[in-house]
Amino acid sequence: MPTGTILIIGAGGVGSVVAHKCAQNSDVFGKIHLASRTLAKPDAIKKDIRRRWKVDIETHAVNADNVPETVALIRKVRPDLVLNVALPYQDLTIMDACLEAGVHYIDTANYEPLDEAKFEYKWQWAYQDRFRQKGLMAVLGAGFDPGVTNMYCAYILKHHYDTIRFIDILDCNAGSHGHAFATNFNPEINIREVTQVVRHWENGRWIETPAILDDKSIHFLFDYPVVGKKDSYLLYHEEEESLVKHMPGLERIRFWMTFSQNYITHLKVLQNVGMTRIDEVEYEGRKIVPIKFLKEVLPNPASLATNYTGKTVIGCIITGVKNGNESTKYIYNVCDHAECYREVGSQAISYTTGVPAMSAAMMVVKGVWKGAGVWNIEQLDPDPFLEAVSKNGLPFTVVDYKPLPASRASF
Ligand SMILES: NC(=O)c1ccc[n+]([C@@H]2O[C@H](COP(=O)([O-])OP(=O)(O)OC[C@H]3O[C@@H](n4cnc5c(N)ncnc54)[C@H](OP(=O)(O)O)[C@@H]3O)[C@@H](O)[C@H]2O)c1
Repeated sequence: MPTGTILIIGAGGVGSVVAHKCAQNSDVFGKIHLASRTLAKPDAIKKDIRRRWKVDIETHAVNADNVPETVALIRKVRPDLVLNVALPYQDLTIMDACLEAGVHYIDTANYEPLDEAKFEYKWQWAYQDRFRQKGLMAVLGAGFDPGVTNMYCAYILKHHYDTIRFIDILDCNAGSHGHAFATNFNPEINIREVTQVVRHWENGRWIETPAILDDKSIHFLFDYPVVGKKDSYLLYHEEEESLVKHMPGLERIRFWMTFSQNYITHLKVLQNVGMTRIDEVEYEGRKIVPIKFLKEVLPNPASLATNYTGKTVIGCIITGVKNGNESTKYIYNVCDHAECYREVGSQAISYTTGVPAMSAAMMVVKGVWKGAGVWNIEQLDPDPFLEAVSKNGLPFTVVDYKPLPASRASF
């Protein structure tokens, strides 16, 4: 008899995959509630879930920026946990609501203030004592990256090494959606992320390098499994901060993401003309934020799924030491856009985020992961989680590999 009740907040590309995957696991998630700002998106997903899986979910409208409104919804549906796949801006209000209503919390992206593109865990780590005191669990960063990439590191440490020296996370989307320019997840969040100053961690300190749109940006051709050579740019990504804290002995961590020249050129133009600004400008007597307007005119990431072809390849190259011997492993997943679309009507970026988010929820609902407080996902047992992620569509491969060069000059 299924007992778990889940409340998913956010019904975009990721929320849709989470809801479909929960419905596929209705032996664990006996009751599935899907809420978003308005009912239109949850209702469309509900219909599709009914058609594909013959499962009925319940839908709700909620403004998750509003704590009392969110608490009222949580008290009404009485979930075991809230899975937050709305936007990073809602992280703190949803955490507040979970504390007040007494339920566990999971998300896939760290909090960002609206008026500053700043990716730091400090705001959410500050909830540690409150979650501990209430005996509740908050699991942070349970998508693919952050999420599965963190767990790849935890898994390699657990099974192969005494300590890890170097981590390179490589995120490749070798897919094609047929649009001149589009982002694969929420355009506002995505563009804020990729236009920031780049940082990586080396020998005990953060090193800043030029942003990806700068002519001096650091990039190199990496030969990915299955999809071949792709230009991969050094980028700051939030899991670096928590992995530096939780991987003992770590000497260097870098994050690389593929971008096509076409993407870079479009984004450069948008930035140069001011369309990526996150501050308010006056337009015909009212205030608008250019990047929010841009989001409205760009393709909705969920809509890209229909014609998306090609694959994503995301994983980690990890160098570690076991019994004094150093070696390097490459652990990765390959996911196919069109297969995701056939299964749940989504593209691979949403799919690779939604499957781990559902799997993390499964770990909490089944009581496999327990422990009061705020946890980055790599602090929890990677084995049952990666088993669930693999079983639900994202298996991984581990091979012996060679370390990536240490410095820019060597690429
Ligand atoms: N870790 C990873 O690997 C990874 C990868 C990709 C994405 N993500 C994260 O996943 C999350 C969702 O991404 P996405 O691409 O699915 O975004 P999306 O398509 O823009 O969907 C966001 C959803 O949240 C809803 N929402 C926004 N503000 C809300 C509010 N105040 N109250 C209630 N609902 C609200 C939106 O409703 P409306 O459309 O009506 O505004 C929409 O349904 C983001 O936080 C993103 O950063 C993580």
